[in-house]
Amino acid sequence: MQFRILGTMEITDQSRSIQLRGMTQRAVLGYLLLHANETVATSQLLRALWGDKPPITARKMLQNAVAGLRRRLDARDARQVSLLTHAPGYLLRVDPERVDWFRFRGGAEQGRAELAVGAWGAAATLLREALGLWRGPLLADLAEVGVDWPELATAEGMRLAVLEDCAEAELAIGRHHEVIDELAAAAEAAPRRERLCGLLMMALYRCGRQADALESYRRTRTVLVDELGLDPGHELRELERSILNHDPSLALLAAGGTAVSLRSAPADLTGPAEAAADGADARQGAAAQGADEPPPQGDARAAGSERGACGATVERKWVSVLLVRAQEGEGGEAQDPEDAAEGMRWVTAAVREEVDRYGGVLHGRMGSVWLALFGVERNREDDAQRAVRAALAIRDRVAARQPADALPEPAPRAAVATGEVLVTPSREPGHDAGTPEVAGGVLDVGMRLLMLAAPREVRVCDATRQMSEAAFVHGASAQPMGGWRVTAIRECRVADQPTPPFVERERELEILRALLRDVLRRRRPQLAAVVGEAGVGKSRLVAELALTVGDVADGFRFVLGRTASFPTNTPFGPLADVVRSLLGVRHTDSPTVVEERLLHTVRRLVGPGEAAARLLPHLRPLAGLTPGPRPRGGTPEAFAAWRRFLEEAATERPLVMVFEDLDRAETPMIEFVQELIANARPVPVLIVATARPVQSQPRPCRHAGFRDSTTLLLDPLSDAGAAFLLSSLLPPLGPGEQPLDARHPLVASIGGNPLFAVEYARALRDGPADREIPTPPAVRSIIAARLDTLPRGAKAVLQDAAIFGASVDAVALAAVGGRSWIEVRRHLESLERGEFLRRNGRVSVTGDPEYDFQQVVVREVAYAQMPREVRSAKHSRAARWLEMREAERAVPRAHRPRAAPLAAPAG
Ligand SMILES: Nc1ncnc2c1ncn2[C@@H]1O[C@H](COP(=O)(O)OP(=O)(O)O)[C@@H](O)[C@H]1O
Ligand SMILES: [Mg+2]
Repeated sequence: MQFRILGTMEITDQSRSIQLRGMTQRAVLGYLLLHANETVATSQLLRALWGDKPPITARKMLQNAVAGLRRRLDARDARQVSLLTHAPGYLLRVDPERVDWFRFRGGAEQGRAELAVGAWGAAATLLREALGLWRGPLLADLAEVGVDWPELATAEGMRLAVLEDCAEAELAIGRHHEVIDELAAAAEAAPRRERLCGLLMMALYRCGRQADALESYRRTRTVLVDELGLDPGHELRELERSILNHDPSLALLAAGGTAVSLRSAPADLTGPAEAAADGADARQGAAAQGADEPPPQGDARAAGSERGACGATVERKWVSVLLVRAQEGEGGEAQDPEDAAEGMRWVTAAVREEVDRYGGVLHGRMGSVWLALFGVERNREDDAQRAVRAALAIRDRVAARQPADALPEPAPRAAVATGEVLVTPSREPGHDAGTPEVAGGVLDVGMRLLMLAAPREVRVCDATRQMSEAAFVHGASAQPMGGWRVTAIRECRVADQPTPPFVERERELEILRALLRDVLRRRRPQLAAVVGEAGVGKSRLVAELALTVGDVADGFRFVLGRTASFPTNTPFGPLADVVRSLLGVRHTDSPTVVEERLLHTVRRLVGPGEAAARLLPHLRPLAGLTPGPRPRGGTPEAFAAWRRFLEEAATERPLVMVFEDLDRAETPMIEFVQELIANARPVPVLIVATARPVQSQPRPCRHAGFRDSTTLLLDPLSDAGAAFLLSSLLPPLGPGEQPLDARHPLVASIGGNPLFAVEYARALRDGPADREIPTPPAVRSIIAARLDTLPRGAKAVLQDAAIFGASVDAVALAAVGGRSWIEVRRHLESLERGEFLRRNGRVSVTGDPEYDFQQVVVREVAYAQMPREVRSAKHSRAARWLEMREAERAVPRAHRPRAAPLAAPAG
């Protein structure tokens, strides 16, 4: 349903016109539409309709009109529009996009935001579009029968102000010929508006009509002097003087007094000219990268102002750089160039393969040094870990081709550094669109570490170490600023002595223990899914369970498998971890040891005969024994063999089997877990799956509601819990020091996430005491990874919201980001679903809900990703926009002319 009131009132439903009965109905609806999504008091409506002397039957007539309207409107689609009784009167709830009056205001706001930053072309397009919605005076049919609400006059004032802004923008881009007629007509109708007069003078002067320009000045001056006894203001007088003197500045001076160059836009990052020129490319780029959004409407808005040539955005990002120095063959100056080239090709292929596998991009090579980047296209929370894994893999591959006593020179070495860079999508034509430019000091840090690295060593910077500590063991380097050596990959085990003290999850732990008792009592498998965001404490809960299984019953065996976040050569990695733990083998054990343990265990469980012979071939690949690629999909025989092995193990001793991060496991692994639960023999086994709440339905949760399965959702800790956790992580307090309070600003940054508490505490301990704490790397990488799961448009809207901080609404964001209101609202809804923003319960003037950030750090990270220049341009747009909104509100209702009574109230 569409409501048009900028002219005669028209209501259409799917392009069929809806007729209203009589003037009262029209007037009631007209008034409610002007105040859509606000409560209008009955007394206010009565006064609008009948002035100070309403007839005795006025209330009744109003009620009848409302009832009639409801029949015509609500009946069609109550979701689109509904007329509610809302003390002390009525509330017309309607999507502002369906009312031309609000569309006009939204468009005007956007256009003015462009004007405020000197984006004349975009401003002119938007303002023209808004003005185009007017078909005549506001509610012309009501005005004709004598309705004279102050709102009508205010609206006309607003229309003229938008016309003036539009003319200003059009004059600035040399459209003086086009605007003259419209300005002349408007100035004739509103001769007291000095700005209008000034714009007309300017247009006439630029068309070579100096005499006409001076004539229009005299007309306005006469009206002002005659009617108000005032002279025109300073600006208009100055303009007259300049015209008389043929002042050359007139060619460059827009009527509002703003100096503009006739070059249509600044050619910097924030310039709309570039955006317009790049519009087509931007759309192509978006399509090529599979962005899931329709191209923005309208050329002026075709590209967000901060976009580069390939449609991606210039962004500050934290990335991990991997530098590898390697040579194949003897290397050195004596090597034959053809051999060197051959060796180089081999190393390049190996580097590319490993970098690809761990999700990085190979950026280039300089001599025998290769550079790869992790996190440029999209941040993942484990970019640093991936880079180190790639480094280790490349080192091992290259080293494996060299004799053990190879000279230091050809021996491979690598360095990983993590830090902030500016990522600029490549602009050069013909340049591979996938290789953006990257600049930042972290590249130098990487080079320094690479130079310090000993043969076969992988060196990392401190940020990389902090972000990958869970996966690797590090040794400090002896050199100053020498970073850390990666000495080993951590074994997959639950922590024996987890720190910090366990907070607030007693209930969840008790539920898991109750399930254990159940498993023992009923001797049947149970599945528990532990679901929560990264860092909320899923693994810790599992570790606490491991520590206390002994309290429930003796003899439980506890095994755990992790899901890698990068592709591995088998989907059954977590199961392989579990099997290896049951065999009691480590990564470092030789194949002979593993084979021996496998034979021994299987024979112990099923006996030496045929049963063992059937199981062994299926277990060998999981134990890491079969050379070559391990099984991709599981055959029914393999599934049956694995299940049998686990059942026998559980029969021997009750079993707790944990699969960590199962949400990112590949389908065959998930299918195996489902199959296990569905078909396992009655044996005592508790399967715990941890997972993040991905999309709407996390995969391990699909079991929810099935027999023998339980889902535990881990919510954030309470503020008091977070404060306690933080205090316990900090050095003991000195005498007289206050313990941390739940209202401490850091508690808000932590947002109930224990991992964030651990990281902030580390930053507090290690950082200088008197400075503000920057977002710790591990926290930032989690948030950055979440932001990079968003479609590009939604992420841009979130960044715009970060400019405002708190309490943003769609209109404000549309104005600052140069996007359509509808598009912004769609993104806001998805950002709320993704738990980035939440509604704060207030509603803006346009009836749009206002939003706040759910977590302070999300705002910090989103803000920090915008380049300085973009940030400051957006800040000034936001400031101008807020100013304009205030100015519009500044005319208090009481000072507007009073309503005249409706001349002929008709039923
Ligand atoms: N309830 C808790 N009390 C104290 N520390 C916790 C708690 N939950 C988690 N932690 C700590 O927070 C960090 C992250 O927890 P972790 O269990 O690894 O999160 P997840 O597995 O959900 O990503 C770990 O250092 C862990 O010890
Ligand atoms: Mg975990």
